[in-house]
Amino acid sequence: MKILVTGGLGFIGSHTVVELQNKGYEVVIIDNCSNSSADVLDRITKITGIKPLFEQFDLREKNKVQDFFNRHNDVSGVIHFAASKAVGESVENPLLYYENNLSTLVYLLQQLSSKSSAHFIFSSSCTVYGQADELPITENAPVKAAESPYGNTKQIGEEIIRDTCKVTSDLNAISLRYFNPIGAHPSSEIGELPIGVPQNLIPYITQTAIGLREQLSVFGDDYPTSDGTCIRDYIHVVDLAKAHVVALQRLLEHKNVSNYEVFNVGTGTGSTVLEVIQSFEKMSNQKLNYKIVGRREGDITAAYADTTKANNELGWQAKSSLDDSLGSAWKWEQKVRS
Ligand code: UFG
Repeated sequence: MKILVTGGLGFIGSHTVVELQNKGYEVVIIDNCSNSSADVLDRITKITGIKPLFEQFDLREKNKVQDFFNRHNDVSGVIHFAASKAVGESVENPLLYYENNLSTLVYLLQQLSSKSSAHFIFSSSCTVYGQADELPITENAPVKAAESPYGNTKQIGEEIIRDTCKVTSDLNAISLRYFNPIGAHPSSEIGELPIGVPQNLIPYITQTAIGLREQLSVFGDDYPTSDGTCIRDYIHVVDLAKAHVVALQRLLEHKNVSNYEVFNVGTGTGSTVLEVIQSFEKMSNQKLNYKIVGRREGDITAAYADTTKANNELGWQAKSSLDDSLGSAWKWEQKVRS
């Protein structure tokens, strides 16, 4: 069975391609390589022994999307990762984000809407909840006004899919709301490789430990949490990748209860920034150079998932601990820089 993975050479996409191949799916990747490298294809092949099909083009080119589906009319499902994801950049260049993240979604859905049966998984984010009123966060928590154009593209993306599913009964879709994906494949063949200075905590930590950055700045220790630093739900990327496979299987096996569903994908456990640093120090067996600085604008105090729905309905739960995830991130960083 052939599955299209857009953005399949990126961080979460590449891990999902591996898990799909492990389950016997044939994978075709579309990626424009704007934030990824074509050699990830070889790395995936090294892990699974199977080279995925690959087409390099930009999904904003509507005629190419159309042409792709004409040539691949046997695609049974689409997992759509391809998107821009830097919060700060989205504030500076909102139209780029609306075009990249939303026009591409529309073009894909236009193709799928004309099929007699279509299955679609969308990369959404816990960012849609903003600072939730109650923790852990369930899927019923209200969607709050987005903090950034990036966050807005996830909210609007979900609405576009929901509205399309309402009038297209043959289209079945699931939005997965990711918490904070971290870690790397146990083979250390694939992992997170941010371009330039990392914006996210874990790559900043590993790059500091390897000597690429001098010091980690911890953004604020005056939040109302146990140690004053922010709380997030850090999920191992392989666990997250597996959630996509079970979500796809749910659609393919017609186990979905409505043709548009939403699931949280997290571990269910929150960790403070200082707890992350402690865990990293333990796993890497070294002290991390960090200092406490002021808060970062736009950061929320705490977010972690209630995963009951995914546990019960997808039969999925995260397996890796924070220690495992950070250990794999460290192993990856060391391999990449060696
Ligand atoms: N942090 C630091 N120092 C850093 C980087 C991060 O202390 O150098 C802290 C942040 O303040 C936050 C925590 O580490 O408390 C996690 O920060 P990340 O940037 O790794 O992750 P965020 O939770 O801020 O961002 C995630 C996703 C985004 C998404 C955002 C919205 O990475 O894509 O959630 O909630 F938009």
